[in-house]
Amino acid sequence: MTDHSSLEALAMDVAREAGALAARRRGEGVSIAATKSSLADIVTDADREVEALIRERLAAARPADGFLGEESGHSPGVSDITWIVDPIDGTVNYTYGIPAYAVSIAAVTGGVDPASWKAVSGAVFNPVVGEMFHASRGAGAHLDGSRIAVNAEISPAGAMVATGFGYDPASRPATLAQLARVMPLMRDLRRIGAASLDLAYVACGRLDGYFERGLNPWDHAAGALLVQEAGGRVGGAPHGRPGPGMTIAAIDPLFEQLHDLLGVDLESPPTAPSSHPTSS
Ligand code: IPD
Ligand code: CA
Repeated sequence: MTDHSSLEALAMDVAREAGALAARRRGEGVSIAATKSSLADIVTDADREVEALIRERLAAARPADGFLGEESGHSPGVSDITWIVDPIDGTVNYTYGIPAYAVSIAAVTGGVDPASWKAVSGAVFNPVVGEMFHASRGAGAHLDGSRIAVNAEISPAGAMVATGFGYDPASRPATLAQLARVMPLMRDLRRIGAASLDLAYVACGRLDGYFERGLNPWDHAAGALLVQEAGGRVGGAPHGRPGPGMTIAAIDPLFEQLHDLLGVDLESPPTAPSSHPTSS
């Protein structure tokens, strides 16, 4: 069996190097290389270059492992570990120069389907502020080496909650209807623009909860582990797991409240957005 702490250390090392590359490329100027599932769903040369670096580093350190990356797809391995990678989560923020983007790297067992995998280690690194969130199953979640935990309770003013809207314009009316249902629970709403950071912020108490429809596996693989290891709950759809139908991460009892209010749609998930560029 693989030692989870060594996977966590590798994820952190690679995320730090990849984040530095992303930030350097941002400083040199960014242009959109292609669109993917919709005109709003973009990829830059930096996304591809950063993913290639991550793939190379992980393959050099652990050649038997599998890999699933947002930009380059799936390469099966021969070990029990697959790396799930978003080289730049928050690409739209990255393109606009908004300092909320992250490298997300997770090691999972059980294949590439979030409905059945088990995340064992992960790292989410925002190179702009230099924050490294990291976790291993059973060993807790940390921010720059210090243990983090979800909030113990919701303020009487209501819950601090983040969400996202996905790239498919056709999904917006349903998403807004869901938002209207859960808004009464909130003191305020955030749309940070990077799912991995939304999840990391639930883990460290900057948010009480987060939900979003239409996520891809690389958006939530590392972040969901952070929340669980910080004492929060993670669920969604299909099959009660984070997935394209819904991802919910929150403290109790907010998790149950979100789950109930969002629940009517949980078993009719939309198709996840395509990860493959349509032009370049
Ligand atoms: C996106 C971000 C965004 C979320 C989208 C994701 P990307 O990832 O996490 O916050 O709303 O659903 O696809 O495209 O920037 O890697
Ligand atoms: Ca991305």
